[in-house]
Amino acid sequence: MSTRDTLIADLRALLGERGVLTEVEAMARYRTDWTGRTGGVPLAVVRPASTAEVAEVVSYCHRNDVPLVPQGGHSGLVCGAMPDEEIPELVVSLERLASIREIDPINFTLSADAGCVLQTLKEAAEEAECYLPLSLGAQGSCQIGGNVATNAGGLNVLRYGMTRQLVLGLEVVLPDGRIYSGMRALHKNNTGYDLKQLFIGAEGTLGIVTGVVLKLFPRPQVTRTALLACHDIEAVLKLYALARRCCCDLLTAFELIPRRCLELAMEASTDLRDPLNTAHPTYVLLEVSASGPADLDAMIETLFERGMEQELLDDGVLAASETQAQQLWLIREAMLEGQRKTGEHLRTDISLPISSLPAFHERATQAVLDACPDATVIAYGHIGDGNLHFNILPPTAMPEAERPALLHELETILFDIVATFDGSISAEHGIGRLKQAPFLEHLSAPEFELMRGLKHLLDPRGLIAPGRILPAPPP
Ligand code: FAD
Ligand code: LAC
Ligand code: ZN
Repeated sequence: MSTRDTLIADLRALLGERGVLTEVEAMARYRTDWTGRTGGVPLAVVRPASTAEVAEVVSYCHRNDVPLVPQGGHSGLVCGAMPDEEIPELVVSLERLASIREIDPINFTLSADAGCVLQTLKEAAEEAECYLPLSLGAQGSCQIGGNVATNAGGLNVLRYGMTRQLVLGLEVVLPDGRIYSGMRALHKNNTGYDLKQLFIGAEGTLGIVTGVVLKLFPRPQVTRTALLACHDIEAVLKLYALARRCCCDLLTAFELIPRRCLELAMEASTDLRDPLNTAHPTYVLLEVSASGPADLDAMIETLFERGMEQELLDDGVLAASETQAQQLWLIREAMLEGQRKTGEHLRTDISLPISSLPAFHERATQAVLDACPDATVIAYGHIGDGNLHFNILPPTAMPEAERPALLHELETILFDIVATFDGSISAEHGIGRLKQAPFLEHLSAPEFELMRGLKHLLDPRGLIAPGRILPAPPP
């Protein structure tokens, strides 16, 4: 028997037939993700159905030097879950670990297996009159384990924080197969090092998340959504500061949408209409919500009045119904599809101090256009968190084959400017493999040594998610 045959026979003995996929066709969907790229052919795809099974697989890999990569809903944007092209890896899919363990509406907590799809958890929380605030475009497919592994952000961070702020407890299978059981639903716990934080945002490089305890909130009873039009980013940010003050801390989303993104949304979803009568350079999609009887209309009216008085706001529309609000959110969703349809482009995820954004935006846009006058900058996203998806579309006529070199050059220009503003090249998507080179370039020696030391402590053989975040150890 070949080594691979032995591996497969051993894995089948551990997980049964259903737990192991080996046919190239059956494994195809585990090789691709939303970026449209395709990874290598894995050694096999395993689908354990319990934490104990995950632990058995990981322990086996540890004893037999088999590299492995955990995989959630494959919606990650930095190619972290995708199997390596050169060194075949075992894909460990969490999709069968998908039970909700407990919802406690008095403790305001939910505990679940890592393979639960985020949308399923949000709906379950709602049924219990609670609210799970993590919200992102991929919520219909991403898994809570993937969200924890990437420390996902999304649309409601400015009110509720990143995934890190929502996790109270974790269960993790460590790289040698031991289980770290930290599924405690405690809102306060100061006993020693906060170990669970190590695994949040570690992108699977320190262990496989198998269970999560999340913090819940009271379910919002009233919500208002508005699309506001502004002449530039400076006005948008002054409006942001005004909105935070006018809306009694009830602001849940404040998303920047430049005109080109609205057009891309209308191109992608042809029944979408421009909600305003005339075109404006930039828009803000704003949401305010409260879990009790707050007069949100009065708050938004005050914001409109003051925004107009201070010449920050040029026009706006407040959704008059749930359906209209959904139409406004559809713009935010459809513009991603519209972008994807333009072909290979530069997708980034940077963050800066919020007050630096106008100067950064001006300098970065100019630098991009100096290097490539026909490129299109579309900087959109969670501007209320200082997080911009400063994306660049190459000239439309540019053949696909010529795009990577140009995009690489533009990324370098952009990230150098981010560094001069003391910003971050990844606010929420992580490093994976796609952003590793610029990440390492801007990492200080002590930071690198600490990270490498942590990795070595937990995974001395470098078998779990090798080459993600940090370089893989030499063979
Ligand atoms: P995967 O893509 O399967 O994996 C992501 C990484 O986590 C990989 O490195 C993988 O190895 C690791 N991993 C997965 N599961 C586990 C586990 N159980 N244990 C350990 N490691 C694991 N992200 C945001 O932050 N904010 C957004 O607003 C946002 N919007 C998006 C919109 C769209 C349309 C799409 C396609 C993506 C978006 N993303 C966003 C990115 C993505 O949805 C998140 O990164 C998400 O958290 C990934 O979850 P997943 O289950 O799909 O993970
Ligand atoms: C967004 C994803 C790409 O905010 O992070 O649209
Ligand atoms: Zn985002």
